[in-house]
Amino acid sequence: MTPDLMPPPLAAEATDELPLFSLLDVEKRFAIDGGRRELRALDGVRLTLRPGESLALVGESGSGKSTLVRVMLGLEAASNGRVLYGAQDVGQFDAAQRRRFAREVAYIYQDARGSLNPRLTVGEVLAEPIRLHQLRESSEVAGRVDELLRQVGLPPDTRHKFPSELSGGQVRRVAVARALACEPRVIVADESVAGLDVSVQAQLLNLLRDLQREQGLAMVFVTHDLGVAAYLCERVAVMYLGRLVETGPTRAVLRQPLHPYTQALMRAFPRFDAPLSVSLQGEIPSPAQLPAGCRFRSRCTRASDDCARIDPAQTLHDEGRLVACLHPLTTA
Ligand SMILES: Nc1ncnc2c1ncn2[C@@H]1O[C@H](COP(=O)(O)OP(=O)(O)OP(=O)(O)O)[C@@H](O)[C@H]1O
Ligand code: SF4
Ligand SMILES: [Mg+2]
Repeated sequence: MTPDLMPPPLAAEATDELPLFSLLDVEKRFAIDGGRRELRALDGVRLTLRPGESLALVGESGSGKSTLVRVMLGLEAASNGRVLYGAQDVGQFDAAQRRRFAREVAYIYQDARGSLNPRLTVGEVLAEPIRLHQLRESSEVAGRVDELLRQVGLPPDTRHKFPSELSGGQVRRVAVARALACEPRVIVADESVAGLDVSVQAQLLNLLRDLQREQGLAMVFVTHDLGVAAYLCERVAVMYLGRLVETGPTRAVLRQPLHPYTQALMRAFPRFDAPLSVSLQGEIPSPAQLPAGCRFRSRCTRASDDCARIDPAQTLHDEGRLVACLHPLTTA
């Protein structure tokens, strides 16, 4: 089948070089206070995701991670800038392209339970995308559902249960199985293992890592947990108040962060969701009232007078790292 969403049919090797996703100066503003004020949830985000690449998106609560993912998936329209999937603008899909995109790019929601239809059994939840995208003959659907349940470590009789009868961890596994049912090229997972007990977390992370390696799946993994990012993703993007402040190979970034914010996150390593605000000095500004200059300066120990005037652009450092800081830490 000729892919109608993927980059134009150049040579196969050449298409591998084109990003799956390109985010070009993406902004997302929400009207608040009955339309009297604006909140900048995303403010000039530039990002690419290449085929087979795994990217962790990390940052404090409210930094814009879920908004970024939702805009990337076309669930929210960007207020400015463009999101491309291959060569296509996700805001301009026709019906057939939208259907194909829904199969190729699977989304595991932050609220896994809320994303499952409570009136369908797990078996029906998993069979639905297989039928919709005609991925198996009718006679093979039940077998495929069993296979998916096995893959995510759920017993076969789970297929007869309703989501309300399952624990949080089981629901999360069903959400992963549903994503896999589409046989996607990209999995976008928002906090998919947060709050699960360690052994369930490890099992799901191993599963996602194996899939990524064996099937060459690309992955965007939103997480509060740098340990999870390091385990699962070769690249990391650190968000602060709607901006990417540091991106680069996970190993290099975690070995020696260049942005003071990344360093502050590292100090709260490995789990920093709840206590993070305590470990950083100063209050996080409101995205509805962004400060002039660098948005991290109220909490930054390296802030200078220039930081109050200049909004730092991303600059390129060794190993392809991009850092938005006037006085980055050194790699020495
Ligand atoms: N529909 C909306 N209307 C108004 N503001 C919104 C809306 N959705 C998100 N926001 C705001 O945008 C900012 C970014 O929110 P977002 O949910 O993307 O953060 P997050 O990084 O995913 O946080 P968390 O780690 O808590 O999930 C927050 O200040 C949030 O309050
Ligand atoms: S630009 Fe200045 S305030 Fe911002 S992170 Fe860098 S040193 Fe800190
Ligand atoms: Mg979120």
